[in-house]
Amino acid sequence: MKFFLDTANTEEIRRGVELGLVDGVTTNPSLIAKEGRDLEELALEICELVDGPVNLEVVSTDAVDMIHEARYLAGLHKNVYVKLPMIREGLKALHVVAQEGISVNVTLIFSPGQALLAAKNGAAIVSPFIGRLDDISQEGMGLISEILLMYENYDFGTEVLVASVRNPVHVVEAAKMGAEIATLPAKVLEQLMKHPLTDIGLEKFLADWNKRKTPA
Ligand code: G3P
Repeated sequence: MKFFLDTANTEEIRRGVELGLVDGVTTNPSLIAKEGRDLEELALEICELVDGPVNLEVVSTDAVDMIHEARYLAGLHKNVYVKLPMIREGLKALHVVAQEGISVNVTLIFSPGQALLAAKNGAAIVSPFIGRLDDISQEGMGLISEILLMYENYDFGTEVLVASVRNPVHVVEAAKMGAEIATLPAKVLEQLMKHPLTDIGLEKFLADWNKRKTPA
């Protein structure tokens, strides 16, 4: 299973990379805007930090502009995957740019049917947003299992990226289902690492060690 970090913050990315756990990065317009930096400069810095896909999203909403933006983003660095939203115009743009060899992540997926269309049109990755489904009382993980089940019947070559992850349980459930990728906020990566019994156990081991009787 691949772990992507869901952030445009270079400090968070650096800390994740140090752990050896970051296979890629996902951003979206909200995450980029939060950093208050020039897109191109920030994108290039992230691409130099991470040896893997760096997902950058278009902000155009009609196919012609999306195609131009996708070509521009993909041209920034070899690591760039272009995120296109799952709308009619996004599907049109996907059809064109996927054939040009641009790796596309179709984002804002909320139904199995949307994931089917994206795969058929050549998406390298689909991003179902599970946390946002949970937010409206629909079980997000159910969507992941439906997409994986559907894709098993075909040879699309599309990877399922579990997005809008809010807690460690989402990640473990995604791994049990065999999703290829989960994109994690830095906080969830920290949470996955922690267990109170680990900290208590280590504290006790070290306290015992420090109280040891040294051989005469
Ligand atoms: O990966 C998509 C993610 O950025 C959206 O997460 O928490 O805003 O629903 P969230």
